[in-house]
Amino acid sequence: MGDTLDAKYWNSRYEENRLGWDIGYPSTPLKSYIEQLEDQSIKILIPGGGNAYEAEYLFQNGFSNTYVVDVAQTAKVNFLKRFSTFPEHQFLVQDFFELKGQFGLILEQTFFCALHPSLRKAYAQKMYELLKPKGKLVGVLFDFPLDSGPPFGGSKTEYLQYFEHYFTIELMESCYNSIPPRKGNELFFRLSK
Ligand SMILES: C[S@@+](CC[C@H](N)C(=O)[O-])C[C@H]1O[C@@H](n2cnc3c(N)ncnc32)[C@H](O)[C@@H]1O
Repeated sequence: MGDTLDAKYWNSRYEENRLGWDIGYPSTPLKSYIEQLEDQSIKILIPGGGNAYEAEYLFQNGFSNTYVVDVAQTAKVNFLKRFSTFPEHQFLVQDFFELKGQFGLILEQTFFCALHPSLRKAYAQKMYELLKPKGKLVGVLFDFPLDSGPPFGGSKTEYLQYFEHYFTIELMESCYNSIPPRKGNELFFRLSK
């Protein structure tokens, strides 16, 4: 992991309840995308899922093959306290970059922007490795200039540099249904392997 953004750092954010990114519900762009999914057996990963409201929403809607990976043990403890019927073994506490497995769909939300920008190329490569053939990486990326983060911003032009090498870019456009505080600052994207 880059610089000091390690498990200790993220755990302390959960322990101290300093969760500026946590909106407390499944975000509208991801919820709308989930609502049009048909195959409930699809194996789904939410990396850097944190309090994982989207995983809860998926699971409650019959997508029982949903997994979360997060480096923060406290995020898992909090998630299972809130949503105790979620299978404990499907919330993996480990570094995303060391995760093994194959998924049909990976959902991105405020995980990419939480990583040090030096890891962006590795993120694209790891996503490629974790997706089954024809699998999709879908979600939102911030669309504001890169500054000291997290969150670390970026642009469509920059993001395409990482992803074009591995994926077909089905969509990467201004997000029309962002939650109000993120309006105008997000790109919705859908990539396929
Ligand atoms: C900004 S938070 C976003 C949480 C969640 N996606 C949300 O929207 O509320 C970033 C999350 O990524 C996790 N994280 C950071 N680096 C990670 C890594 N290398 N592997 C797995 N999780 C990581 C953190 O613990 C944190 O929960």
